[in-house]
Amino acid sequence: MIKFDMKNSLLEKEKFKSISKFLKSYLENIKKQNQGFHAVIDDQKTIKSIENFSQKFKGKFSHIVVLAIGGSALGTICLQQSLKHLYENELKSGKFPKLHVLDNIDPALIQAIEDIIDYKKTLFIVVTKSGTTPETLAQYFYFRSKTDAKKLDPKKHFVFITDPKKGLLREIANKEKIPSFEVPENVGGRFSVLTPVGLLPASLIGINIKKLITGAKKMRQKFLSKSTEENLPFQLAAIQYSLNKKGKTITVLMPYSQKLIRLADWYRQLLAESIGKKLDNQGKAVNVGLTPVNALGVTDQHSQLQLYNEGPNDKLIIFIETLKNGPTLKIPLPKNSDSDINFLKNTTFNKLFQVEKIATEQVLTANNRPNITIQIDQVNEESLGELFMLFEGSIAFLGEFFNINAYDQPGVELSKVLTKKMLSAKIN
Ligand code: PA5
Repeated sequence: MIKFDMKNSLLEKEKFKSISKFLKSYLENIKKQNQGFHAVIDDQKTIKSIENFSQKFKGKFSHIVVLAIGGSALGTICLQQSLKHLYENELKSGKFPKLHVLDNIDPALIQAIEDIIDYKKTLFIVVTKSGTTPETLAQYFYFRSKTDAKKLDPKKHFVFITDPKKGLLREIANKEKIPSFEVPENVGGRFSVLTPVGLLPASLIGINIKKLITGAKKMRQKFLSKSTEENLPFQLAAIQYSLNKKGKTITVLMPYSQKLIRLADWYRQLLAESIGKKLDNQGKAVNVGLTPVNALGVTDQHSQLQLYNEGPNDKLIIFIETLKNGPTLKIPLPKNSDSDINFLKNTTFNKLFQVEKIATEQVLTANNRPNITIQIDQVNEESLGELFMLFEGSIAFLGEFFNINAYDQPGVELSKVLTKKMLSAKIN
C-alpha cells in the first residue's frame, strides 16, 4: 500500500486547504476529457489476448527486441528493471526470453543488438501509437529487410502495437496479416504503459500483468475519490503546483531503490511532455512546466545532493522509499577494524540504506528544501501498478492546475515535421 509523508513539504496547511476546494471541479473536467489511461485497465479482453499470445509463443524465442521510442518504450524499460532480476539479461539460464528495448536510432546501438541476437529466435515488437514515427518505422524497415533476407516468416517474427485504424503500421498489419494489438485512440504514448504497449512485452518475460492491473485499480479508486485525504494523485499535484508558485520549478524524483530508477525515467517524460506547454487552454502564451530531474538513492547523494542542499532553492524532492529492499544483508566488519568505521558494527545494508535516506531528508529539511516521501512496502507488480496510476493521475490534475492540455505535445511534433521536411529536400 502506498503512503505519503508530506511533513517536510514546507507548505502551510492553510495553503493546501485553500487549493483543496478545486478537487471536485477538476475531477469533473478530467472525466469530461474522456482520456483513456484510467479506463483502459478495465479491458479484460485485451489482457486475456495478451496472456494467450504469450502462452502461444512460450519457449519459442531467446530474444525479444522492442522497436519504439518515447512513451512507447519507457514503460517497458521500467517494467523490466523494476520487476525482473537486476541482471536478468546476464543470467545464464533464463526461463524467459531476454528483452531489449531499442529506443534510439544510433547505428552503434543497432549494430550492437545485431551482435547478440539470433534472428531465427527473435521476436520483434514494433510499437508506435501513431504508426508514423520515423525512428520506429526506420528500425522496422531495417530489421524486416534482415528477416526477409533470411526467409523468416514476418507473421512469426513480428508483432505490432499501434492505433486501431490509422497509420502505416496498421496498414501493413492488415495487408500482411501480421499479429497486432491496439493502443486505444484516447490513450497517449506516455500514458500507455498499462495497455498492450507495456503489458505485452511484460507478459512475454513472465511479469504478472493481472497483478499490475490490480495495483493500478487500487490507485484509480483514490484518483477518482472526491476526498482530498484519499486522493493521493490530487495531493501530489497540489503540492507540486503550490510549490511551483513559490519558485520550485524543478521536480526531482529520487527513489531509494535500484529497481525503480527507470520509473524515474518514465516519469521524467510524463511530467516534461505533459506539463511543459506554451499555451493555456484559452490560447494565451504562458510557457509553464516543471523540469523533471532523476536521482537515485543513495548513489546520487554522492553526485547531486550537494546542489540540492546548497544550490538554488528551486526544487521539490520526491523520495520513493521501500520498506523492504531485497534480502537482509549483514555488513561484516573485520575484527579490530578502525574505530572510525565502528558505527557499521552489527548493522545491515538494509539499515544503512534506510538511515541514509532519513539523514538526507533531514538535512534537506534543515536547509529549507521541500521534500516529500512516497512509501511502498516493496517493489512488486501491485505497487508498480499503483505508482503508474498515481503519477498519471497527478499529471491529469496538474493539467487542471496549470490550465493546459496535458495530453498533446506540439513542441515535439514540430521537430518531427522539420525532420521530414529536411530529409525530403535532402538537406544535410
Ligand atoms: O508521449 C507521447 O505521445 C510521445 O512521447 C510518443 O510516445 C512518442 O513520440 C512516440 O510516438 P509513437 O508511439 O506514435 O511512435
